Amino acid sequence: MIGNFTYCNPTKLYFGENSLENLSGELAKYGKNVVLIYGKESIKKNGIYDKVMNILKESGKSVAEISGVMPNPTLDKLYEGIEIAKSHKADLLLAVGGGSVCDYAKAVSVSVNCEKDPWQKYYVDFEEPTCETIPVGCVLTMVGTGSEMNAGSVITNTKEKVKVGHVFADEKIMPRFSILNPKYTLTLPHYQMVSGIYDIFNHICEQYFSGEDDNTSDYLSEGLMRSLIHSSHIANKEPNDYEARSNIMWTATWALNTLVAKGKTTDWNVHMLGQAVGAYTNATHGMTLAAVSLPYYKHIMPYGLAKFKRFAENVWGVNADGKSDEQTVLDGLSAMESWMKELGLVMNIGELGADESMIDGIASTVFPMSGGYKQLGEDDIKAILKASL
Ligand code: NZQ
Ligand code: ZN
Repeated sequence: MIGNFTYCNPTKLYFGENSLENLSGELAKYGKNVVLIYGKESIKKNGIYDKVMNILKESGKSVAEISGVMPNPTLDKLYEGIEIAKSHKADLLLAVGGGSVCDYAKAVSVSVNCEKDPWQKYYVDFEEPTCETIPVGCVLTMVGTGSEMNAGSVITNTKEKVKVGHVFADEKIMPRFSILNPKYTLTLPHYQMVSGIYDIFNHICEQYFSGEDDNTSDYLSEGLMRSLIHSSHIANKEPNDYEARSNIMWTATWALNTLVAKGKTTDWNVHMLGQAVGAYTNATHGMTLAAVSLPYYKHIMPYGLAKFKRFAENVWGVNADGKSDEQTVLDGLSAMESWMKELGLVMNIGELGADESMIDGIASTVFPMSGGYKQLGEDDIKAILKASL
């Protein structure tokens, strides 16, 4: 394992059917003023809102609410939330929802006491907070992003048509605690469930497809991918299978809580392409990744052939005997494609609302990353997007 790194993950996790019982103990650690942050309607429909609100009341908290946080939260919504958290003198931001709500809470956390414009400071200049931040806690209801145990926060600037993620270096931006009850995810529509499953898978790929050294992180990644594929077959057929859904939830957390990136340069170009598509179409995050993945991996595989071969054999069980390396790799990608189709993922950006006339615009907002097997230039990006149509 090559590389120097620091590993610190301070998020305390409570996992399982009874995990919400731990919320009152966590609330006791913070002041009276809590801002409850949630999405549009799901937590009111499935009863999670009432459960959380009762615990907040029993704990004697003064609660203000930021509701209506949309998927792919916007900068305008961030400005609105900053004002609410400021006027409530928030001691804790409690996010109840998926990655969008959790990411948004982190963005509010670093912005409430920030003197500069948060968009400029965090999403253009990628600075770290220099002001006091507000602790974030999370009750997770959608599985995929890993936002429950990382310091990532993605915000969309609709005016500029850019979607930008900032992974804060300071671990105090990670949620202080996260409550993971797999039962809360059972009300997710199939589309969201499979989108989340692909998001998880791709997070692992983004870290796995880099480097040529022998790295423990890659073995962990292969195990996580195999577990995810196994559980996804079950959950796709029987969404109420608790065992499968709980494994998927746990895999999501480990897929992006910094562990499997250790000692790796990491790729992240599928996310860069997907985010640019998302800024133009406001499509569901995991589906944007699914739509660009195979064209991207086919484009870069000659530059990382050994790792793609290992992926085919160790993740997809391809038998390489008597085959060229290229054929083994293609068989692996073909197994991946069959799995994606079985789940019902979106396989092209056209289905998400993108068309040929948008390619130049989308390509111009991609931020290519340099840790993977190929540095993408403008022509590569356009070719991949066109192949994704
Ligand atoms: O708004 P409500 O009504 O709550 O509905 C939500 C939303 O429409 C619904 N939902 C959530 N829990 C539910 C439920 N519906 C029924 N039952 C439940 N239990 O699901 C929809 C999608 O929710 P959202 O939070 O947007 O999904 P996700 O968790 O995929 O988050 C996506 C956001 O996270 C960012 C993405 O870019 C996107 O903005 N990401 C964050 C990352 C991070 N922090 O590290 C990394 C990821 O790669 C990603 O970029
Ligand atoms: Zn993602």
